[in-house]
Amino acid sequence: MKKNILVIYFTQTGQARKALDSVLAPFTNNPDYTVHYELIEPAVPFPHPWKYTEFFDAFPENVQAIPCELKPIKADMNLNYDLVFIAYQPWFLSICRPILSFLVSPQAKQLLKGKPVITIINCRNMWLNAQEKMKRRLLDVDAKLVGNITFVDHSANLISLVTVLAHVLKGEKGRYLGIFPKYGVNEKDIANGQEFGKIIVAHTQTNNWESLQKELNAKGALDIRGNLMLMEGRGNALFPLYANYISKRGTAGSKQRRTRVRIFGIVLPTAILILSPVITILSRLAPLLAAGKFKKQIAYYSQNALKK
Ligand SMILES: Cc1cc2nc3c(=O)[nH]c(=O)nc-3n(C[C@H](O)[C@H](O)[C@H](O)COP(=O)(O)O)c2cc1C
Repeated sequence: MKKNILVIYFTQTGQARKALDSVLAPFTNNPDYTVHYELIEPAVPFPHPWKYTEFFDAFPENVQAIPCELKPIKADMNLNYDLVFIAYQPWFLSICRPILSFLVSPQAKQLLKGKPVITIINCRNMWLNAQEKMKRRLLDVDAKLVGNITFVDHSANLISLVTVLAHVLKGEKGRYLGIFPKYGVNEKDIANGQEFGKIIVAHTQTNNWESLQKELNAKGALDIRGNLMLMEGRGNALFPLYANYISKRGTAGSKQRRTRVRIFGIVLPTAILILSPVITILSRLAPLLAAGKFKKQIAYYSQNALKK
């Protein structure tokens, strides 16, 4: 009997879809499988490119995981899917709001309950904490996270900080100012997605997910950088405090909170700019000063269980 694969995804520029098409090629080219794509669409679309204040104004509700209204989901609620892919982007170290909104919907409970799930993340480079939140949300709907694959921009952190801002705020598609590298996941990495897909097909055939993540990791499925792990930890602790500070002043888009949003829009890039070199030095020392702890943390983020 044919197996049914459900693919839930959100994308602003199509990058997530490109990564998905590559990973899923071994499924779509195989007559044993039917692949059902489900694009998650907010009722009021998020902008792209974003205006500066729009971008930073999206921060509080995204960090506070407040769902937004979605267009109706078209997936067949009565079909017993064999495997579900969820492709998403981290926004401010949290699950982007459209996918978060799907995950807390009654449809997600019905579609994902008891199902093996594979997450596919496409982002700049910081995904660890968003994925921790994803692990929690999947447990909440009784789904089983069996695999994770990341597609990132490989430029140095400060370079991609500039290029991602040019990309999301100015819609820059090429080399910003002619000197910076093009923002985003490179074509070679996208094409390599099929190699992950082949491994996943083999596990889908046996419905045994035990060693899937280890096999994916051996092919380079996860990009974990020590310096970013330390940096994300700081951000993840501070973001909820600042999100509350902004939202106390007013609701999304309101004039009353604009000053606080603007301050955040200056403080965040400046903090990354200043902290990035310091944290890079610390991360070089960490394996020497606290080798055990550092290794343990990397091992933890390389697997799919959630810390107790
Ligand atoms: C509001 C917003 C917040 C973002 N926050 C993060 C983040 O926390 N970590 C990260 O690595 N990238 C972050 N990004 C970059 C996106 O992950 C990146 O734009 C993504 O590659 C776009 O994929 P898409 O075109 O498929 O939507 C953010 C982008 C937006 C628009």
